[in-house]
Amino acid sequence: MKKADVLIVGSGLAGLMTADYLCNDKNVILITKSELNHSNSWLAQGGIAAAINKEDHWHHHYHDTVMAGVFHNRKETTELLVKHGTRLIKRLIDAGVSFDKNENNELALGMEGAHGKRRILHAGGDSTGKVIVEAIMARVLPNITVYENEMAYDLFVENGVCHGVFTKDTDGNPRLFKADHVILATGGVGQLYSATSNCLEATGDGIAMAYRAGASLADMEFVQFHPTLLMNGESSCGLVSEAVRGEGARLVTEDRVPLMTGKHPMEDLAPRDVVAREIFQANLAHKKVYLDISNVCNFKVRFPSIHKMCVSTPEILETGLLPVQPGAHFIMGGIKVDTEGRSSVQNLYAVGECAYTGVHGANRLASNSLLEAIVFAERLSSAILTAKTYNHCEQPPISLSSNPTVKLPSKQEIQEVMDRYVGINRDHNGLEKAVQWFQQFESIIDGKNHFHLTGNEKVISNMLTVGLLISKASLMRNESRGGHFRVDYSKSNDIEWYGNRIIHRTGEMY
Ligand code: SIN
Repeated sequence: MKKADVLIVGSGLAGLMTADYLCNDKNVILITKSELNHSNSWLAQGGIAAAINKEDHWHHHYHDTVMAGVFHNRKETTELLVKHGTRLIKRLIDAGVSFDKNENNELALGMEGAHGKRRILHAGGDSTGKVIVEAIMARVLPNITVYENEMAYDLFVENGVCHGVFTKDTDGNPRLFKADHVILATGGVGQLYSATSNCLEATGDGIAMAYRAGASLADMEFVQFHPTLLMNGESSCGLVSEAVRGEGARLVTEDRVPLMTGKHPMEDLAPRDVVAREIFQANLAHKKVYLDISNVCNFKVRFPSIHKMCVSTPEILETGLLPVQPGAHFIMGGIKVDTEGRSSVQNLYAVGECAYTGVHGANRLASNSLLEAIVFAERLSSAILTAKTYNHCEQPPISLSSNPTVKLPSKQEIQEVMDRYVGINRDHNGLEKAVQWFQQFESIIDGKNHFHLTGNEKVISNMLTVGLLISKASLMRNESRGGHFRVDYSKSNDIEWYGNRIIHRTGEMY
């Protein structure tokens, strides 16, 4: 058994920042199911949004955030997000993050979809996440204990209080990590879909664990698809940041017709859900869509990693036309937390993409996710530093008994169901089919610990849990809003749904 004051599960920016805020006062252990730098934060290209320009103000950032979120955002947390951005960006700079500067040696501010102003800080051109995470890792890793390749299986909860996490180590041995405070920072769910910008680890593990432990979840139906994954034939080979459109690239059909003209006043810089749907519709009509980068100045210098991705297909750079398709990118819902990251289970917290803070509404504004990580990591850490701790419980036995289970599906089978029925376009019949498909695995979905499962099997069981929750919530919300588009209810229904959230708690949904 291992013991810490604080146990963090996940090594993206949210987990690392929380560790950074806490490690001088608390004994912190961080575990991750693979390697430290395997996270969506590490892959983040575009940047981090904050109203730092003197012509900007957090009010404007707030306005853009709720417009993109289709007014489904939680007011209180959204205000916290945009108000604290500027101060915390300065803290990142003090921590050694070197953001890109312009020719006047001022911070260079990029533009992305649905922003009314240039307010996106970036680093390394298009490697913002990597630059930030590396700087934070350099500060924090000497002060915490890290276990890589440690797969979290389930939370140890007794009488409504979380006391730790059951895991399996690299050799498959079951272990218990006890802690006064357990923080889930496990990221998103993109791997439930075949086309995704997300890292291989984004399989919804933390959300599934929290659900099994009795924590409330909210807004699981809202899944954001990024409009532009770079395609190489049928498969995607990486993300093309929205910042490329911010510098003048335009979406065109194969006959060179601008795709977004007349579709939205912001055209190529419309909110992500709008642009992704337009590309999806064009693809349904068997039209290929390209990102025309011929107007982007100094593409190679401004976007070095994206340029590198294109080099493998030389005709892309010759023609300046990047073949693109939408892919799963971000889940707006997750583990329901208060303004300090507390879940509904005592001593259990969530931060980053796996948390539902409500700041993203029905569709996240570009470059608000790294911002969410740093703002709510700070709030959560302050809450822990002032919390009273009591964590007295017996160590439970770890049972290795192999319960009889149904045969698990493959990851590909799950992706096929999600792509087909719970993707960009959804309808009642398809969603019902998805729910029924997932329900055949209910004994797995509800099962705790399940130490007889291998790590990969446990991941599949988590994907089944999250797939079922997304499908059920999507079936229930009979309107369209942001990342949730119902072909059979194609408009938002403010009378029935404005401000309403679908909450899940084990066995319940309301
Ligand atoms: C992008 O660079 O387009 C992705 C950034 C984000 O998801 O906020």
